[in-house]
Amino acid sequence: MVVTGGASGIGRALCVRFAAEGATVTVADIDEAGARATEALIAAAGGTAQAVRCDVSREADIVALVEVAETAFGPIDLFCSNAGVAAGGGPEAPDEDWARSWAVNTMAHVWAARAVLPGMVARGQGYLLQTASAAGLLTNIGTAPYSVTKHAAVGLAEWLAITYGDAGIKVSCLCPQGVRTNMLMGSTDDPAGAVVLASGDLLEPEQVADAVVVGLAEERFLILPHPIVADYMQAKVSDYDRWLGGMRRLQARLRATLQANPQANPQSTPQATPQP
Ligand SMILES: NC(=O)c1ccc[n+]([C@@H]2O[C@H](COP(=O)([O-])OP(=O)(O)OC[C@H]3O[C@@H](n4cnc5c(N)ncnc54)[C@H](O)[C@@H]3O)[C@@H](O)[C@H]2O)c1
Repeated sequence: MVVTGGASGIGRALCVRFAAEGATVTVADIDEAGARATEALIAAAGGTAQAVRCDVSREADIVALVEVAETAFGPIDLFCSNAGVAAGGGPEAPDEDWARSWAVNTMAHVWAARAVLPGMVARGQGYLLQTASAAGLLTNIGTAPYSVTKHAAVGLAEWLAITYGDAGIKVSCLCPQGVRTNMLMGSTDDPAGAVVLASGDLLEPEQVADAVVVGLAEERFLILPHPIVADYMQAKVSDYDRWLGGMRRLQARLRATLQANPQANPQSTPQATPQP
């Protein structure tokens, strides 16, 4: 199996957990030292892994990654396209932030599917796991580039599940809310990170890996380590306008809290849940 973003956070937890289950793991990341550290963790526990430097915002790197993985461990049965980046702001955010978000959060999944699907279809089996986010089902206040590109990732996963399901290809889409990783803990001072911290339980990456193992075993399309996200989705689809109103009120509460006390711990912000 292959995991992108395997140097850290959720990706590392997936690598370690699947290696413990007996998988041979190709740990891919732009952070080569971090990928090697994950490889070492797996080796120390008696597992088998190889670290590969890969920038998933470049299709050529993903093509090369697939070749290296298959040369070492044979056909890829599970490709976890998990690397992601966060960028704050709205339409005014710099084009570079939008472009990086599209490349890493959306196009990397397209390029991974393009690289592995022909082999999987020929074998009549294969599993694609895409890490999107609850931000791709609901929205993440304070960050349009992240929310929009994660919505696109969910749309792609849906499309792949529908189009390739009858060819034996399974697709799951992982949509966590807050997880204690470098990405989230590095953004607690900005509104986008603050609202995630304020909106529900913060899970450890290992808990997300547990949810993935169960979700893949059950062949669930949508893997929600925070089950409350399903309730938020239901609130959204049952009355979109009411849900938007609730999100605006949440945004106003968050702004007021942060303005009154810029040092406020958003986790203690009252009633900050992303639904009306
Ligand atoms: N932490 C959360 O609260 C949360 C919530 C929902 C979804 N997610 C998603 O989970 C996934 C993993 O993030 P995380 O929270 O573990 O954060 P993280 O920062 O710990 O891990 C992200 C990894 O992706 C790698 N990466 C970034 N750009 C890359 C690139 N161009 N090529 C290859 N690797 C690259 C980083 O080096 C890092 O190792 C992301 O897709 C993220 O959007 C995270």
